[in-house]
Amino acid sequence: MKKRTLKVFALLAAVTLLFTACSAEPILTENYRYTEAELKSMQLAEYVYDDNAPSLCDAFADYFKVGACINPWTFSDTSSDEYKLITKQFNAYVYENSTKPDAMHPSEDRYNFADTDKLVEFAESQGALVRGHTLIWHSQVPDWFFYASGNSGEPATAEQLMKRIDEHVTTIVTHYKGKIDTWDVVNEVINDGGGLRFSDWLKIVGDYDGDGDKYDYIEQAFISARAADPDARLIINDYNMEWSEQKTISMYLAVKKMLEDGVPIDGVGLQMHIGYDTNIDTLRSNLEKLAKLREINPDFVLEVTELDMNCNGWDGDPNDKEFIEKFNQTYSDLFALLMEYSEMGFIDTIMFWGINDANSWLNSSERDNYPFLIDRENKFKSAYWDVISLALD
Ligand code: G3I
Repeated sequence: MKKRTLKVFALLAAVTLLFTACSAEPILTENYRYTEAELKSMQLAEYVYDDNAPSLCDAFADYFKVGACINPWTFSDTSSDEYKLITKQFNAYVYENSTKPDAMHPSEDRYNFADTDKLVEFAESQGALVRGHTLIWHSQVPDWFFYASGNSGEPATAEQLMKRIDEHVTTIVTHYKGKIDTWDVVNEVINDGGGLRFSDWLKIVGDYDGDGDKYDYIEQAFISARAADPDARLIINDYNMEWSEQKTISMYLAVKKMLEDGVPIDGVGLQMHIGYDTNIDTLRSNLEKLAKLREINPDFVLEVTELDMNCNGWDGDPNDKEFIEKFNQTYSDLFALLMEYSEMGFIDTIMFWGINDANSWLNSSERDNYPFLIDRENKFKSAYWDVISLALD
């Protein structure tokens, strides 16, 4: 176990011993109850799935659900290390790819529920929250949506596409009514430079109702989703709002207008694909902007939907002390901010976009990435202890 880790736990043990000197009672922390024996035992865990290992979702239980994106094979073998990891560390799950439009609705007359049915069944067995990612997206969407018939030729009309959106969303959300807690109803509809992404959805539907904005395809998706499952949380999800003020303001203005028009949007999902050198103060400033949407919908929420921390910007050895200190500090500062926004009632769900460093879209054949708190061997990185100690103190 790394020196820094022992230091953190030595400090923790010292604090614990000091405190317990005055009472035999279990140690009450602000949001979780650990006994001295439990804290000591945690230090001895080697793997994140060991019985005596700490658990991220347990430690942060009073702040937020802590989940991860998984795949059908992640939980198919209950004896696997991955199965043990995800059931120990996480209490919320989302599929990385299997609930996307191309997987769920490959052709106009065919739906594929099999894989996502398995996700729901697994999550129910764990008492875990389920996120559905995603109903409407410009990527991983089959071409048939955008043609009058088949996958080529005449483009679909606006009316045809609006009907298809309604049917697609209604059919899928109805099938999972009461089983999928939260939907990324639309994903990445804001343009990186601000305004709306000029996707096929937007090109074909445009300003369908003539009210002067072009949110129509987005509005239809949310209206259909709410009608199909009134109890599901409906999220508009996007990336780069962690640093881009322009994109954040575009998201704010779009959601504000749709909320004022009565569109049932429950919250904004920040994907949180950040870097080890992300400026947390900029993130705080953008969260403050999005939090103003509570002025229109008092129950409006923010979610962290795809957290990972890209390390490719570091050209040196990822084991360098300097890099680890920066990486750990960024994760700690991030979680401290998220805990603040949990205490303000905005954030109650944090999803990692992978279960350990070996399972990340950020890895490539050219280069490994190290985006999480759990390493490739399912062991604790020092960042894990720094982050969980925020919930232990
Ligand atoms: O299913 C095909 C398979 O049949 C084929 O043999 C294989 C090789 O070409 O490709 C497989 O599809 C891949 C798919 O993941 C399923 O594994 C696609 O090529 C690959 O591009 C796709 O990548 C996913 C990516 O979204 C697509 O944009 C990543 O796994 C997934 O982590 C990533 O997730 C997105 C979120 O949905 C939205 N936010 C950004 C995030 C990262 O890009």
